[in-house]
Amino acid sequence: IKRIGVLTSGGDAPGMNAAIRAVVRAGFFYNLEMYGIYRGYEGMIQDDIKKLESKNIAHILERGGTFLKSARSAEFRTEEGRKKAFANLLKHGIDGLVVIGGDGSLTGAHLFFKEFGIPSIGIPGTIDNDLSGTDLTIGFDTACNTAIQAIDKIRDTATSHDRLFFVEVMGRDAGFIAINAGIGSAAAATLIPEKKMPIERLVERLKARTKAMKTSNIVIVAEGGKSGGATEIASKIKKLLPYYDIKVTILGHLQRGGAPSSLDRVLASKLGVSAVEGLINGKYDVMAGIINNKIVFTPIAKAIIGSKEVDEDDFRIAKILST
Ligand code: F6P
Repeated sequence: IKRIGVLTSGGDAPGMNAAIRAVVRAGFFYNLEMYGIYRGYEGMIQDDIKKLESKNIAHILERGGTFLKSARSAEFRTEEGRKKAFANLLKHGIDGLVVIGGDGSLTGAHLFFKEFGIPSIGIPGTIDNDLSGTDLTIGFDTACNTAIQAIDKIRDTATSHDRLFFVEVMGRDAGFIAINAGIGSAAAATLIPEKKMPIERLVERLKARTKAMKTSNIVIVAEGGKSGGATEIASKIKKLLPYYDIKVTILGHLQRGGAPSSLDRVLASKLGVSAVEGLINGKYDVMAGIINNKIVFTPIAKAIIGSKEVDEDDFRIAKILST
């Protein structure tokens, strides 16, 4: 391998810049030429590809977002689009690919490898933490910190006004951000897609808390919940418990922004270097991850299909702490 192209794709996540920097620095360390593919697969199709130099990656480790920009490309899902993209890689002589992103982005890398045989490797970059083959994905820790800081602020109003807040957090179909935010912010209840929580049980929980003289309540709702988001749940509860002063806050994209935490910077840096070393050592169509503090390479097909679920213990602990 002589020339590696690196891209970020899908939703941006804090720490993606740190990962790009580590990939490029490792490439230079091993005397490779490094290319930035801008706007993910969309930029690959449109030939938005530039050679990177050391100055391009100076002072990006500490910045949120991704300086390579990101996109969700519909055209790359077509065979036609992928052919165009591959032709552009050939044009630049790129013979190795590092894809930083979530399950959709890694699925793209997997398909691309299968169709054209281009050595490619994935790095898990998503706030959702929903990939197998790694304990943590890049951006998850920062997103949890951001959510918890925001909930702390909401708690001030909840306490001052004796209010019940429903706070919706991101995570797509997974409840990792929600369960962490729930434990970390002493939530009255946490509703996640992986577990059914009948509305009657939530009502009982809130009533029990009122009896125990707990006057401020924060319920965390994962956006992908089967019984609806925070707005739907809040209106159901309003009908059943009309005496509560209820408010809804949807944290939204603020969870994706901001400077990466120490944990995300270090995770991204380790995975960036490992991905380049993996490519050099012939590890293709795999995702670099960290399990029990050790670098592991998991076939992309496995990392995306066996999507991991919130740990039973985490759910149990959240429940114990909220009653
Ligand atoms: O995958 C990251 C994520 O932030 C999810 O948590 C969320 O459901 C989705 O992306 C939002 O996507 P978009 O920024 O395209 O609205």
